[in-house]
Amino acid sequence: MRKTNLKRASIGVVIVILAGAAGLGVLRASMNQPDETQTERGAALFADKGCANCHYTDKTETKTGPGLKNLFGKDTLPASGRPATEENVRLQLHEPYAHMPSYSGRLTGEEEELIISYLRSL
Ligand code: HEC
Repeated sequence: MRKTNLKRASIGVVIVILAGAAGLGVLRASMNQPDETQTERGAALFADKGCANCHYTDKTETKTGPGLKNLFGKDTLPASGRPATEENVRLQLHEPYAHMPSYSGRLTGEEEELIISYLRSL
């Protein structure tokens, strides 16, 4: 009697482990898919790298810097008035227009791309 219980319990444990591993596999596979997850990774970086401390993303009102909603939907960037291009956003990250701290050397090229793909989604 005891032995069967033990056997059942260990089968249960094995099933839980297998289900967990399968779940992780699915999660990892979905993380490798571009687009949607690129935007999500960009959003996480936007928070981690401190952008969110100074910028709203759901409106254009100024926090410390201008709100970034619909950033690429307009012709010009909100502070500098430069054309709203990825190039000019990269320029802002390296050599900010006025008071924003420079992100030169603080973001990898990939991180910049992810943040820009997030900004595109706003
Ligand atoms: C300490 C506050 C602060 C942080 C942190 C910050 N910004 Fe800014 N940001 C500003 C200010 C202030 C401006 C207005 C222009 C300036 O001062 O250079 C600005 C302007 C901008 C602009 C508009 C540029 C233009 O040409 O009009 C963009 C886009 C931008 N920031 C993106 C970011 C991103 C992305 C991050 C994070 C990687 C970030 N900012 C982090 C304060 C900040």
